[in-house]
Amino acid sequence: MLPNIALALYGLLGFIGIASASPSLLGNYTVVDVQWDLPTNLSDPNSATISVLGTIQEAVAQMEAQYPGWNATFQNQQPSNATVSTVAQYDVEGYLCGKPWSWVGYYAVLDGIYYLRKVTSAAPKNGPGPGNCGRVSCGYKAAIYWCNDNGAEKELDSWNDIADGAQYVFDKCVDRDDKYAMVAGQVFYTDKWNVIVTFESC
Ligand SMILES: *[C@@H]1O[C@H](CO)[C@@H](O)[C@H](O)[C@H]1NC(C)=O
Ligand SMILES: *[C@@H]1O[C@H](CO)[C@@H](O)[C@H](O)[C@H]1NC(C)=O
Ligand SMILES: *[C@@H]1O[C@H](CO)[C@@H](O)[C@H](O)[C@H]1NC(C)=O
Ligand SMILES: *[C@@H]1O[C@H](CO)[C@@H](O)[C@H](O)[C@H]1NC(C)=O
Repeated sequence: MLPNIALALYGLLGFIGIASASPSLLGNYTVVDVQWDLPTNLSDPNSATISVLGTIQEAVAQMEAQYPGWNATFQNQQPSNATVSTVAQYDVEGYLCGKPWSWVGYYAVLDGIYYLRKVTSAAPKNGPGPGNCGRVSCGYKAAIYWCNDNGAEKELDSWNDIADGAQYVFDKCVDRDDKYAMVAGQVFYTDKWNVIVTFESC
């Protein structure tokens, strides 16, 4: 568990560090709602699921409002290990660091990755692209998107795959260009989807 004070500090750092924040993705991207099918009781494998829209942080807030205590159970979930995909294998085609994306404090990015690794229910799905993007995480001014560049709907194996993409960007881009403790970038997979890590007001 990351200390909230450090997160707040890194969020602030990100805020100070960026002159022109993008409120949403630029240029050729369309942002669509992300749907989460979440169990109403995380401790009960047979519990009903409900659908909520938004980032994972917004989804958790909606679950907490309807099912008090839900967040505490969610936070206590063991995060899945990195690279657990068993169904699909995703090959990296390329990546970029920085422009056109904006640098954000790395603790904030790690927090988003931890959130995504705790989601075990229904796989991420995104409508036809190209440039069809869902904002899956936004907290402490760090946004994580996944974008479908296929002409048809795309379904991934798990939310962990998006976390892996953000982690890839993190590993390749952190501290690049003298941006100490900052991350920004995008990773592209051969089967035409990508993950973006950027600064954004949530
Ligand atoms: C949008 O796509 C066009 C055509 O592929 C390209 O020339 C342009 O650079 C893109 N714009 C951005 C902001 O990515
Ligand atoms: C959730 O499920 C667990 C295990 O079945 C049960 O002990 C607990 O009471 C349930 N919580 C709620 C709020 O229904
Ligand atoms: C969920 O719990 C985390 C960790 O305690 C906290 O930072 C976050 O604000 C909580 N979210 C909601 C919606 O209660
Ligand atoms: C993650 O890996 C560790 C070490 O291999 C293992 O003990 C743990 O059970 C794994 N966690 C999950 C959620 O799969």
